[in-house]
Amino acid sequence: MKQFVLIFSFPLILLASNDAETLYLKNACNSCHGMYAEGMGASPRLQGLREDVLLRRLKDLQQGKTRTAFGSVMISFAKSLDEDQTIEMAKYLSTLKTNVNEDRYEIEYDSAGDGGS
Ligand code: HEC
Repeated sequence: MKQFVLIFSFPLILLASNDAETLYLKNACNSCHGMYAEGMGASPRLQGLREDVLLRRLKDLQQGKTRTAFGSVMISFAKSLDEDQTIEMAKYLSTLKTNVNEDRYEIEYDSAGDGGS
């Protein structure tokens, strides 16, 4: 999985134009929430959620308030953002579109011997 993240992050780092996007990659948010913030496993989808909801959730997490059993892994990452960055991050994530490249998941499942459909 790490390899996928690295390969897919590289062009995005080069193209990164706005602060929150750079921060999202620099702070490794993509390693749990996915390249497009589409969510992976226990890490919820963030793309296109309401800005005020994202902001409230990030502030809750900064105070150690989690929603799920695996939520505590998120606390230190929420705390890695200062107040301005938190606001920018909520704004950025809310603008992301739901256009996930499903292919990369299929490649991953194939190598595990799961033919899928
Ligand atoms: C180690 C994996 C991991 C990393 C890295 C990570 N997150 Fe999370 N994130 C989670 C998990 C798990 C939750 C669910 C938290 C909960 O239960 O409250 C979460 C929740 C969130 C939420 C709240 C979503 C909701 O619907 O409640 C936001 C916003 C968020 N993360 C943003 C970020 C940002 C921004 C970064 C990078 C600074 C980041 N995350 C890095 C695992 C991670």
